[in-house]
Amino acid sequence: MGLLNLFSFASLALSISTGVQAVSWTATPFNPASVPLAVRSPYVSAWLPQGAGTALNAAWPTFWTGTNVGWAGYVRIDGTTYNFLGLPIVAGATAATQKSLDITSTQSTFVMTAGPIDLTANFFSPVEPTDLVKQSTPFSYLTLSAVSNDGNSHTVSVYTDISAEWVASDDTLTVNWTSTTTGNVLTHQVQLENQQLYTEVSDRIQQGSVYYSTDNTASATYQTGQDAVVRAQFINNGVLANTLDTNFRAINDDWPVFAFAHDLGTVGTTASTPVVFSVGQARDPAVEYIIANNQLQARSLYFWSNYASVADAIAFFHSDYTAALGRAQAFDSQLQSDASAISTDYAGLVAMSVRQAFGATEITISKNSDGSWNTADVLMFLKEISSDGNVNTVDVIFPAWPILLYTNPALGKYLILGLFEYQATGQYPNKWACHDLGSAYPQALGHNDGKDETMPLEESGNMLIMALSYTQKSNDTSLITTYSSLLDQWTQYLIAEALIPANQISTDDFAGSLANQTNLAIKGIVGIKAMSVIAGMLGDTQKESNYSSIAASYVTQWQTFATASDGSHLTLSYGDDSSWGLSYNLYADKLLGTNVFPQSVYDMQTAWYKTVTNTYGVPLDTRHTYTKSDWQSWTAAIVTDDTMRDTFISSVVKYIGNGENSVPLSDWYDSVSGDISGGFQNRPVVGGHLALLAL
Ligand SMILES: *[C@@H]1O[C@H](CO)[C@@H](O)[C@H](O)[C@H]1NC(C)=O
Ligand SMILES: *[C@@H]1O[C@H](CO)[C@@H](O)[C@H](O)[C@H]1NC(C)=O
Ligand SMILES: *[C@@H]1O[C@H](CO)[C@@H](O)[C@H](O)[C@H]1NC(C)=O
Ligand SMILES: *[C@@H]1O[C@H](CO)[C@@H](O)[C@H](O)[C@H]1NC(C)=O
Repeated sequence: MGLLNLFSFASLALSISTGVQAVSWTATPFNPASVPLAVRSPYVSAWLPQGAGTALNAAWPTFWTGTNVGWAGYVRIDGTTYNFLGLPIVAGATAATQKSLDITSTQSTFVMTAGPIDLTANFFSPVEPTDLVKQSTPFSYLTLSAVSNDGNSHTVSVYTDISAEWVASDDTLTVNWTSTTTGNVLTHQVQLENQQLYTEVSDRIQQGSVYYSTDNTASATYQTGQDAVVRAQFINNGVLANTLDTNFRAINDDWPVFAFAHDLGTVGTTASTPVVFSVGQARDPAVEYIIANNQLQARSLYFWSNYASVADAIAFFHSDYTAALGRAQAFDSQLQSDASAISTDYAGLVAMSVRQAFGATEITISKNSDGSWNTADVLMFLKEISSDGNVNTVDVIFPAWPILLYTNPALGKYLILGLFEYQATGQYPNKWACHDLGSAYPQALGHNDGKDETMPLEESGNMLIMALSYTQKSNDTSLITTYSSLLDQWTQYLIAEALIPANQISTDDFAGSLANQTNLAIKGIVGIKAMSVIAGMLGDTQKESNYSSIAASYVTQWQTFATASDGSHLTLSYGDDSSWGLSYNLYADKLLGTNVFPQSVYDMQTAWYKTVTNTYGVPLDTRHTYTKSDWQSWTAAIVTDDTMRDTFISSVVKYIGNGENSVPLSDWYDSVSGDISGGFQNRPVVGGHLALLAL
């Protein structure tokens, strides 16, 4: 934040260098590189860049890209004020000490010791996979509760604010704001004065508003104004002035902040009732989508169909807090229990992955011609965060697929349905499946010129595998019935190209292109077999047996092409005996129950991986020492002994907790050094960490 920022950076550097020596708090399950605070959508994505041990009050929260999103918090106890959140430099407050951090799939809970009080700050981003209204509501909770730690009673009040950095990353842009009361909720609303529909700048949407709210109880006060002024008001008085600054200006012009405080009264050894804050970003329309005849459709987040206004949605969100927490605790403990059956490390890995995976998605609906909502027309959109910002990238949905199967397969359908609808309009000219629905989120404009990133084998196989997988899990045959000719068209491509893959890229495009990739051939062959099963479901027994024989004969030939001559492992590419890689596409054969590849292949690969494991896991392939956390999780799910399975999982967890970076979980990292490998961060492919739970 301008001048203050200079101080912030100095403090941050100091806390990181001391953090390397010892993290002073307990962490469950472990200290990750970055802690999710409010992670709910591509535009509600606030993290604590924890690195080797930065406390909640030793850095500003950041948007996933690393730019600050000001979020400050104080607690005042018997006239002494402590800072527990963010790095505001205002005289008169001392820093609270972080005592613990506890991370579940939906919550990050910090306990901050402030003199005689322990303050619990619970950052809770709901994940509601079976409720489209709630899942599409782009808001996240922060609750604060205090308890005495010295046996005595104390007078306590709490304060939080957000800055306008939540609106955009360019601090010179002008924002305006209003503060309102709806029902039992106080809300500060902030937005860019110059709005641009469907437009991102530095990954921030230039449209809609940010909302910061709290319960409008007798204990609540509010204020908007310059950061130092508003914060000093609380530090010195423990209450806010209930005044509003209406001098609209740039984000960095005397840094306007939007604050609330609550008087908790006297707090003893019983924890105080949590006070609830919420933060979110809403816009309408949300996504632009190509339909027939090159027409563009405006789509809205599903939650609008249930409320008359954003204010109503926020009022409901606040009234629903206790129930939402109950649902989240049930979801968290089910996941914890299912994953713990694999290992403790695995439970930690999936807990770290859930908010990030869902945080890349948005559920939308269209309007009927009379202007009413068409809730029968549901499409889910996913941003290929950080790698290129594409819309609904097929080979990003594919690695994330396990989390959709585990939580609600219908969400998988809503994610791939738009790809089917678009290609069924006939506007996409290539005979293989397209790579994505649009180059720049949130515009799903298709690729009528056919010049999307070319991954023909990869995406055709992915679409067939996901279509069958969804159908098997749901018993809903609508996708395979409606789009059988597209599926068959892509199968023709696979029959022609899968056995001897041309020089092309796979989803791991950063590794470059290569001919005869063993792992791509696996995907293509499983895709052909998937169409055989689909044909059987549709009653075409001749096609079913024809494609089944083709797949079986390809497997036999593939084994001779793809096995190293000493029989010890699969090669990365045919004929290159010294090459190898993670054959993660075999996972699809197990997932679908197609079993076209013999068990001996899994046994051979399992034995091989044991000989090539580095400190942080098995390399993606012999071209580099880097690897992927998603593909290692997929491979862990199909190796034939539990020791190798656990090695894969524990290697990934060791990397995530090694303190060597501070970005939202990067799926791409080096298996030797444990460093991140490129700019990948906060990608939804971490949904693939649930691979073991989806089989
Ligand atoms: C703030 O800016 C938006 C977008 O330009 C505009 O619609 C709105 O009326 C402005 N609000 C105030 C209070 O000036
Ligand atoms: C799908 O059908 C199978 C066989 O009838 C049944 O066992 C399974 O429970 C069904 N699954 C769902 C999600 O309805
Ligand atoms: C791919 O593998 C096939 C079968 O081994 C071989 O005939 C062909 O020459 C290979 N192509 C390339 C480009 O290496
Ligand atoms: C099997 O499918 C292939 C590819 O579509 C086709 O060329 C061939 O004629 C089919 N064979 C039979 C017996 O239907």
